[in-house]
Amino acid sequence: MKVATIGTGYVGLVTGACLADMGNEVICVDILPEKVDLINQGKSPIYEDGLQGILKRSVGKNLKATTDLNTAIENSEISFICVGTPSDGDGRIDLQYIKSAAESLGKVLASVDNHTVVVKSTVVPGTTENVVLPILEKNSGKKAGEFGVCMNPEFLREGVAVEDFMKPDRVVIGQYDENSGKKLAELYKGFHCPILRTDLKTAEMIKYASNSFLATKVSFINEIGNICKRLGIDTYTVAEGMSLDHRISPNFLKAGLGWGGSCFPKDIKGLISHAKELGYEPKLLQSALKVNRKQPEILLEMARKKAGSFEGKRVAVLGLAFKAETDDTRESQSFPVIKQLLDEKAKVIAYDPKAEENTKAEFPDIKYAPSAEEALRDADIALILTDWEEFQNLNYSGMKNKIVIDGRNIVKNRDGIDYTGLFW
Ligand code: UDX
Repeated sequence: MKVATIGTGYVGLVTGACLADMGNEVICVDILPEKVDLINQGKSPIYEDGLQGILKRSVGKNLKATTDLNTAIENSEISFICVGTPSDGDGRIDLQYIKSAAESLGKVLASVDNHTVVVKSTVVPGTTENVVLPILEKNSGKKAGEFGVCMNPEFLREGVAVEDFMKPDRVVIGQYDENSGKKLAELYKGFHCPILRTDLKTAEMIKYASNSFLATKVSFINEIGNICKRLGIDTYTVAEGMSLDHRISPNFLKAGLGWGGSCFPKDIKGLISHAKELGYEPKLLQSALKVNRKQPEILLEMARKKAGSFEGKRVAVLGLAFKAETDDTRESQSFPVIKQLLDEKAKVIAYDPKAEENTKAEFPDIKYAPSAEEALRDADIALILTDWEEFQNLNYSGMKNKIVIDGRNIVKNRDGIDYTGLFW
């Protein structure tokens, strides 16, 4: 089929590339010419395992990028809106990019027939029906039904987005009407997983509920960890015992410094804010957020107990990305830790295998080491904040005092150091 994706972030570009890899004709649209040029050279502007390979074999054949949205829509039968929906100050999601994409799309639909618009961006329940659809109708001069409307949430994890797209647990198709849903289901017919057809707002809610549940599950095991710590119980053995129950599973049961990224925080805050607008106080979701926010403070309290005041101390911060295998630092739990260390006048030396550049924008004045060993040299204390595999077996011999606080239960070799885990 002929497909356009609007927005070439990790959702838009991965969606476009994977659909091309499955044999569709794909045009990826972005407003940034430099991103478009890079993609058309077969180079990926973002790091995602497997994406570069797909671009190499598809660009110039059945995948191209352009800044020209009109031509992209005129030459496709389905278009995915994959633009960002950032959260503003109080957790509400900002729909400006969605609205602008819908407006541009609507204008083209005035002269294009048999086209289906699919919202893939994460939007609060009711957005596709009450915001996107009216904008499409207004700018096209047509009624929905003359063009198709669907909502098709993504469940892609950063770092493994290509795999998550190609082997989904399920495909959710929210449809305005039967024809819209049928059209989109045709695109996914090659997938061997349940394809769930719902109405538009149910599909939107499935996304929010899924992400908020996963975030809550992580906050749950962190709360259990904070209790176990006071009892001298190893949380990870508790989690192992829990995970053997097939209803619980081992996934998203790793206790640690908590969750960050561009989705969990935004989605749980978006759902909380939306629920409040509907006159409901979502206590459980608010507690999951509160537990998560507290984890960095708990780690710092532990460090103070071990090393005393941070003032003037050399603190090696190992791990800046919000999780391993990505350079993304959005809402990273490492950031509140670094901020507090600086407030308490520590000398921070940071290291991360991939996320240094993205951290410099936020913390231009701290030192960055080229390796973990360099960061540890002469350090009074080391804080391990991201679960990078290379942090499992570090050489701490260069440290002045060998105090190590492990926020991710990643350190395997604990000999010769004063080791403290976040939960024991
Ligand atoms: C998440 C969802 O998994 C994905 O389905 C959705 O489409 C986008 O948001 P992502 O944000 O890329 O994906 O990362 P994920 O792997 O889910 O981890 C999120 C955060 O939770 C990370 O900070 C990670 O360190 C943390 N986490 C995850 C834990 O602390 N413990 C766990 O057991 C799992």
